[in-house]
Amino acid sequence: MTGSARHLYVHLPFCAQRCGYCDFVTIAGRRGQDTAYVDALLQELELQRALLHDQVETVFLGGGTPTFTMLPDLLRLLEALPAAAETTVEANPETVTRELARALRSAGVTRISLGAQTFRPRLLKVLERVAQPEDIRRAMHHLRDAGFDNVSLDLIYGIPGQSAADLEADLGDALALEPEHLSCYELEAKPGTRFTHAWGAELAEQADAMEDYFERVVARLTGCGYRWYETANFCRADENGRDLRARHNLAYWLGRDYLGVGIGAVSTIDDRRWRNTPRLARYLQSLAAGRLPERETEPLAPGVRAREKVMLGLRLDEPLALGGLRSAIDADGVARAERLGLAVDGGETLALTKRGRFLGGAVTAEIIA
Ligand SMILES: C[S@@+](CC[C@H](N)C(=O)[O-])C[C@H]1O[C@@H](n2cnc3c(N)ncnc32)[C@H](O)[C@@H]1O
Ligand code: SF4
Repeated sequence: MTGSARHLYVHLPFCAQRCGYCDFVTIAGRRGQDTAYVDALLQELELQRALLHDQVETVFLGGGTPTFTMLPDLLRLLEALPAAAETTVEANPETVTRELARALRSAGVTRISLGAQTFRPRLLKVLERVAQPEDIRRAMHHLRDAGFDNVSLDLIYGIPGQSAADLEADLGDALALEPEHLSCYELEAKPGTRFTHAWGAELAEQADAMEDYFERVVARLTGCGYRWYETANFCRADENGRDLRARHNLAYWLGRDYLGVGIGAVSTIDDRRWRNTPRLARYLQSLAAGRLPERETEPLAPGVRAREKVMLGLRLDEPLALGGLRSAIDADGVARAERLGLAVDGGETLALTKRGRFLGGAVTAEIIA
């Protein structure tokens, strides 16, 4: 028997330290739990094996800082994971040594997502990052040397104190490294966090400039030949005809089934979504006893996945095929968006115009039934 999930997410939560703005499930510092954690991941995968398709298309190791995991444990994990056309590992620049880059390449990793965020030292400090700009450049160098020909850089804009000139300089520094892919996220500062408390005034002052920053990112990257294929994601056109979009993330945006393992990991399969406990001790305990970890399960009411497909599909540059999704769309809303030049209804397909893509969620909210 074969399951429906062709996409596997593996969460590796350990980080050297916690960056102030981060809201992911992470555990700071060396705790000596890497071996136990990888054992638990492999046990969870074993228990969930029936949910995975015989042919897994993508595997994504995200964090946390997957490359902060003790190398023997990380390699043991990679060896046990299903082979896939795309295997991505998220890496923090300061962790990428020549040895690590080579070891990941030999272990079959095809793609690296490197968290640069910014190249300005004072903004790296605001974000409480460990890496310095030279660490980012060195990491890229080691990855190229090891043979990686598909590297993505993550950038953040809207960092407290970041001017438009700082952003332009960051884009220039990122482009100089010639990444195949770039993700550019607007900084999300969760209310009530220490970070938001510390930087609230600067964040409020900058808020109005974010639309302009977003437009600058898109103009600069598309001007340099990158394809703006998803709201926050860009890829190079490859001279060998490779499609350099992030295949794993594309599966999420297309509303495909995926299995997530590890603490806090989310899975969506058929009409069910569940999230594993974010608590490490409980996760380890359950799996050591051969049981699945505690999790919160959300039955997905009919129509929920169709609406999500519309919401996420409209973030992409390719028109969304509407077969089976009509009930998720409000015809009056589409007509209004078309009149305002924000969407194009092709009958069988629906797409946002460039202006519509800049406004993003506000337009989608109009369109969804
Ligand atoms: C799961 S995170 C972890 C990646 C890696 N540990 C790192 O820090 O580079 C993946 C990406 O999400 C983005 N990100 C994390 N927190 C964010 C926030 N509060 N606002 C916007 N982007 C964020 C960053 O660009 C980051 O590289
Ligand atoms: S290294 Fe990445 S995952 Fe870890 S705390 Fe910093 S932003 Fe979050």
